[in-house]
Amino acid sequence: MTEPAIEALYTEDRSFPPPDEFAARALVNDRAMFDEADRDPEAFWARQARELITWFDDFDTVCEWEPPFAKWFLGGTLNVSYNCLDRHVEAGRGDKVAFHWEGEPGDTRTITYADLHAEVCRFANVLRDLGVAKGDRVNIYMPMIPELPVAMLACARIGAPHSVVFGGFSSDALADRINDAEAKVLVTADGGYRRGSAVPLKANADVALAATPSIDSVVVVRRTGDDVHMEAGRDHWYHELMERAAPDCEPEHLDSEHLLYLLYTSGTTAKPKGIMHTTGGYLTQVAFTHKYVFDLHPDDDVYWCAADIGWVTGHSYIVYGPLANGATSVMYEGTPDHPGRDRFWDIIERYGVTILYTAPTAIRTFMKWGTQEPEKHDLSSLRLLGSVGEPINPEAWIWYHTHIGGGRCPVVDTWWQTETGAIMISPLPGLTTLKPGSATHPLPGIAAEVVDEAGRRVEVGGGYLTLTRPWPSMLRGIYGDPERYRQTYWSRFEGRYFAGDGAKLDDDGYLWLLGRVDDVMNVSGHRVSTTEVESALVDHPKVAESAVVGAKDDTTGQAIIAFVTVKGDVEPDVALGEELRAHVAKKIGPISRPKTVIFTPDLPKTRSGKIMRRLLRDVAEGRDLGDTTTLADEAVVDEIRERAAAAPRDE
Ligand code: WTA
Repeated sequence: MTEPAIEALYTEDRSFPPPDEFAARALVNDRAMFDEADRDPEAFWARQARELITWFDDFDTVCEWEPPFAKWFLGGTLNVSYNCLDRHVEAGRGDKVAFHWEGEPGDTRTITYADLHAEVCRFANVLRDLGVAKGDRVNIYMPMIPELPVAMLACARIGAPHSVVFGGFSSDALADRINDAEAKVLVTADGGYRRGSAVPLKANADVALAATPSIDSVVVVRRTGDDVHMEAGRDHWYHELMERAAPDCEPEHLDSEHLLYLLYTSGTTAKPKGIMHTTGGYLTQVAFTHKYVFDLHPDDDVYWCAADIGWVTGHSYIVYGPLANGATSVMYEGTPDHPGRDRFWDIIERYGVTILYTAPTAIRTFMKWGTQEPEKHDLSSLRLLGSVGEPINPEAWIWYHTHIGGGRCPVVDTWWQTETGAIMISPLPGLTTLKPGSATHPLPGIAAEVVDEAGRRVEVGGGYLTLTRPWPSMLRGIYGDPERYRQTYWSRFEGRYFAGDGAKLDDDGYLWLLGRVDDVMNVSGHRVSTTEVESALVDHPKVAESAVVGAKDDTTGQAIIAFVTVKGDVEPDVALGEELRAHVAKKIGPISRPKTVIFTPDLPKTRSGKIMRRLLRDVAEGRDLGDTTTLADEAVVDEIRERAAAAPRDE
């Protein structure tokens, strides 16, 4: 027997079948769709594409697969903005609310489908007037204000691929991305609100613009009213251009494989990768997953995805999926702790949000802040909860289910990536019996397998997550670098897409994500996942969050070092550290007992909320950590803060 690629140590016995009432009303409550997709995946996707999307010309080829390059729905023509706007207005739903938008300072806007349609048509004409033609790239660097989806949809309307750069990124990161895309126009704002202050987006953009020769014009939305530099001839106010623009704009009829957008994601090397998503396949799968994973009833639901549109989650599940499905959404500009730590619960109560989609990092932060915050509000409108971005630790899942969902809302843990474009592995809430911490099963039409080092299929136990069949919303490559695309995703295992994540299959065939394989620790020859040790730590009632890393160790190869953040008013001390080490040993075995527990008030995160384990590994390896010592050491905390502050801004 060979050593397992990654050990499976954590067991979870709790399970939650769909509540009867939920299942009775759910769009999916039997296996028919799985059976259909198993029989003929291409026919299944073709049916979804024709049912969920309006095509100007029907397609004749469902999928052309020349590994690793796929094309979907060839011969078909469509327009994403037509699908997200016009067809709803034409069907008499123009007065339906598309977005209940709320700014961080508390200002609000209600935007109907008709409003959004009108604004998008005008802005599409603005872009055309600035010389943007089909195929030209447009960069977008904006706060979470309605003009951000307007700009994206206007690009889609005229066939100009957009490249949205998250508003928290630095000037350098923005310049790199503009230059890689060779964008012609930049759409930005004077600023945006975050945690009570104005972020100077235009000033950041000005620094980038000194090094971006491809940009001819800059469009600036007035949001904060702060003074900004406007370069004559290059920079224009959004509201002035909009006033002069013609109101009507016919949507371009675009090929199914027309480039819809680029979205940059950082890899292990410095240069970020421009992930390419195209039109027909992408829209089909985001509409499909948004409808069925969130069990969307568009006439009743108020849906809120609390991500930032600067990430793929916002592209697919704030903009394209919900609008294609004619949903009513909440869109919020700011942070969850402004002006108080109950801002999310206040928003849910005021708008009657029924579906909430957020990230484990947010959930663990809410756990740290305590249950008194959600308890201030009536959250009874909620009927479904979602999670994305990282593995959700079982205890965080239970907290979310109990304290936010009132014990009645299914939690859909959705696994996917920028590269997959849409949700791939997830429960269907009216059908799937949930296990806290498991993303459960691939969706209909999706084929995923766990394999060992040699690429052999693993039936039970840990290994590498691979996808074995093309899917409609898969990335079409890395912009300008087909070889890097092949190397990064298709070279590790013959004929398989390798996502870079570890996963295990339990005895019941449920999938559990184990984190990035780069983070797997090797302790005395055992390959231990950070996720499982972290989940064992979060299982302790005093722990809110933890990050575990493997630091070099003379005896065991690597030793497990645990950084731990405790809940609300818990005082960390040496005794608690010892208790946690023992807790992990009991929960998942002595091999996983952390050598050292280090308490820290917060953990360093990337801009999208993922824990920066590499940084913590450097901190741990830079000092002499004793065998059973438990530190609550100011120097460590300071060093984490300093390193996090100095970390590359675009990670
Ligand atoms: C991780 C975000 C476990 C995973 C949509 C993946 C998850 C990376 C989950 C992609 C989940 C995302 N369970 N891990 N439900 N969702 N991940 O590109 O490591 O920002 O490879 O896309 O996030 O992150 P990205």
